[in-house]
Amino acid sequence: MARILITGSADGLGQLAAKALADQGHQVVLHARNAERGRHAKEQVPGAERVITGDLSDIEETIKIAYEANASGQFDAVIHNAGVYQASSTEILLVNTIAPYVLTCLINEPKRLIYLSSDMHLHGHANLENFKRDSGRISYSDSKLHLVMLCMAVARKWPDVYANAVDPGWVPTRMGGRGAPDDLQKGYETQTWLATTNDSEAKVSGRYFYHQTESRFNPQAGDVSLQEKFLNLCEDITGIPFPHGSDRTMDSTPIQ
Ligand SMILES: NC(=O)c1ccc[n+]([C@@H]2O[C@H](COP(=O)([O-])OP(=O)(O)OC[C@H]3O[C@@H](n4cnc5c(N)ncnc54)[C@H](OP(=O)(O)O)[C@@H]3O)[C@@H](O)[C@H]2O)c1
Repeated sequence: MARILITGSADGLGQLAAKALADQGHQVVLHARNAERGRHAKEQVPGAERVITGDLSDIEETIKIAYEANASGQFDAVIHNAGVYQASSTEILLVNTIAPYVLTCLINEPKRLIYLSSDMHLHGHANLENFKRDSGRISYSDSKLHLVMLCMAVARKWPDVYANAVDPGWVPTRMGGRGAPDDLQKGYETQTWLATTNDSEAKVSGRYFYHQTESRFNPQAGDVSLQEKFLNLCEDITGIPFPHGSDRTMDSTPIQ
């Protein structure tokens, strides 16, 4: 059984993934923006081990989430699920792009990392020139491209980790809206599968999945020089360097 942290698990796909994993007997750690949402999350997923709280639009709170996660024990997998769509560009940048960067850098070496992107990332632009100059120009699609860039950079730099991105489809959550046409169950199954399975199809890294099938992603995400600029900007904004190879304390045991 695996121990898994899911960000933004008070609602939507995060909560559904948490329920499914807890029902399968995995040790699930929930995350919610504050104590009230944390209580709600725990009520919805009573089988979860605990809830960690913190607002991902606040870099200091995000750093505290990572410390609390580390203090609670080792994770086998982290599902970077939390996201915002109808929000200010600054909030989109902080929650969708910067928070996953911070948690990726600071949480102690889970062997599997899953990043919730979207097919909208296909129309996104790295838009790095506006990271610090004018975050008002960063769109949701851009932020979902950033997540795939982060995923591909992690896969390239940390060969002992399985890092993959997921398009859950357009599904009827609060974000997706009631009329969303895709299958809600399929919207969280790929994440839970990538987090726990021993199937060889999931023991890969640097891939982009839709409904458990590898899919085409925006070529900007695979551009190494763009990835490097992206990581440097995230470091400038957060003060947290991306841990390169030997900076990580991870033991070198191969992934089982
Ligand atoms: N639904 C879709 O059709 C669709 C399509 C493509 C991609 N996605 C992606 O899938 C992921 C999950 O989406 P969803 O549909 O489940 O969305 P959702 O129903 O709106 O749930 C989003 C979750 O993220 C949490 N969250 C948002 N901002 C936060 C913050 N500042 N601090 C802490 N937690 C925060 C929310 O907490 P609260 O409940 O407290 O607000 C909620 O638990 C997102 O990354 C989204 O971009 C969804």
